[in-house]
Amino acid sequence: MPLPKLTRRQFFCSLAVTGGAAGMWMRFVEPWWVGESHITVPLGLGGLKLLHLSDFHADPMPLDFLSRQIDRALAWKPDFICVTGDFITKTFEKWDAYATVLAKLPAAAPTFATLGNHDGGRWARFSGYPTTLRV
Ligand SMILES: [Fe+2]
Repeated sequence: MPLPKLTRRQFFCSLAVTGGAAGMWMRFVEPWWVGESHITVPLGLGGLKLLHLSDFHADPMPLDFLSRQIDRALAWKPDFICVTGDFITKTFEKWDAYATVLAKLPAAAPTFATLGNHDGGRWARFSGYPTTLRV
């Protein structure tokens, strides 16, 4: 079935509508979407529970929202915790308050963490904290 022919105006209008919808999704829907899944992996480790958290994106995400989600996750009483990056989105200023929220994790169980692409490096050079250590 052939695709309908669009005028240049129709093409750019549809592009703008699609881009606007994607932007609205990324700004107003996805950040508040907290996914939760429970997976059992038969490793013979006596029922150890691993909590995996990721993509906190503090600022724009409010710290009180993150704190509530962490409390909710810790109610599961994990034996180990892994945090896999994107602690921030671009830049951030409320480090002391954020440290207080994050401190709940190692207080509850051994916690391992890694940085994400938003937390620094080549990708973050456009608007965040690039890795620019110079001695
Ligand atoms: Fe992310």
